[in-house]
Amino acid sequence: MKIADQVRQTYDRRPYPFGNNKALKRRSWTLVLEWVGAIGRTEARNTAPARVLVAGCGDGTEAFNLRRRLPDAEIVAVDFSTRSIAVARRLQRRAKEMRDIRFVAADLTDPRLPAKVGGGFDLIICHGVLSYIPRTARVMRNFGRCLKADGALYLAVNGSRHVNTRLRQALPAFGYDMNAFQDSPRLRSVLKLCDTVVTVDGLPRVSGHEPEFLSSDVFGPLNQSLTLSQWVRHGRRAGLNLRGNWSSIRLFRRIAENDLHPLLIPRSRAQVVDFLERLSPSQFHRLLFSKKAEATPPWERRGQLLKWRIVPTRLYRIGLPKPGKRVLDRLRRLTIASRALNLSMAWRMPEWELELLRRGDGGRSMGGVLRRIPLSVPFPELRKQLYLLYHLGIINLLPPSTRA
Ligand SMILES: C[S@@+](CC[C@H](N)C(=O)[O-])C[C@H]1O[C@@H](n2cnc3c(N)ncnc32)[C@H](O)[C@@H]1O
Repeated sequence: MKIADQVRQTYDRRPYPFGNNKALKRRSWTLVLEWVGAIGRTEARNTAPARVLVAGCGDGTEAFNLRRRLPDAEIVAVDFSTRSIAVARRLQRRAKEMRDIRFVAADLTDPRLPAKVGGGFDLIICHGVLSYIPRTARVMRNFGRCLKADGALYLAVNGSRHVNTRLRQALPAFGYDMNAFQDSPRLRSVLKLCDTVVTVDGLPRVSGHEPEFLSSDVFGPLNQSLTLSQWVRHGRRAGLNLRGNWSSIRLFRRIAENDLHPLLIPRSRAQVVDFLERLSPSQFHRLLFSKKAEATPPWERRGQLLKWRIVPTRLYRIGLPKPGKRVLDRLRRLTIASRALNLSMAWRMPEWELELLRRGDGGRSMGGVLRRIPLSVPFPELRKQLYLLYHLGIINLLPPSTRA
């Protein structure tokens, strides 16, 4: 039997993640939408996606959660496990607000997929799916065809350090066939043994996981756990550019706390992601791709950089102090917090930087904003602070307006 058919059978047997009423009730990760909007759709006029494709939707949990977060969006959810789609539709009938989600039984590798689901998606969500599909290139090509020009793909996939890769290599030593999952007290004990060793490395425990997870993620016919550059190459071949990696922001923050981030100038977001991943490989990648490559600010040319426009993202809540009596280079305290990233920072910023955040609206150039401030900010200082705000996703920088 072909690998794809074996994968389908696994999910027909146990629709993922629950296969029951929990799919309607469980609140999941949709906070990530704020990050997607901030980093992946910087050119879009409205960052709330109007049309969303959930690729590999399982029992519908993700689609139901998205509906709650995006009540006006058109949501299409696809899976090739007909049993999973049947479960999702059955659950959908129980909740009035879910009834207009379109659940489609289709294979993501099928060249006719764009015809089946329609194109023009602002956002494609594909979480924990591509690691189980042998023909990755076909899926990425379909995503490229289904996305709008300013749309974004959120792709969550296993990294090369993934704990399942290690377990798949270790468990045959206990006589287990990795293609045939059978739950038993002995298997759970063996997994506990494995946990005691792998968690030393900071990886999560697996011995307590549901059979739905163990049968398809640890066991199962295929588990592609690739490096970031391998996933990026798959994207590039389909005309999709890497825009961000969820875990990189935290690593960047640690660099910035030690005031070492100027060493990374003039690298783009994608280049910083690549650099950080080499130092600290993820076990699970949460990646953002878009058709448009990131417009890279000219970090080394003052005159050019000041023509760019600054716009705070909605990824953080910033407690901006009131302008009040100003000494423009005095440091002021503020807090910056992001629910989506689960980050909170106490910060000190000079008044001129606060002014950039207050007045930056994506319309005026940075030079225009700074001209209103009676203080000449040295370029290395300005660039250092902007670089920090930009890589933490606090601001976006947009190329000079063509209207000007
Ligand atoms: C691990 S589950 C993830 C489900 C969901 N995205 C989540 O994170 O809860 C993987 C899903 O991808 C689906 N899948 C795998 N290969 C597929 C393919 N070629 N076409 C469509 N769906 C596929 C499986 O049927 C399964 O429901």
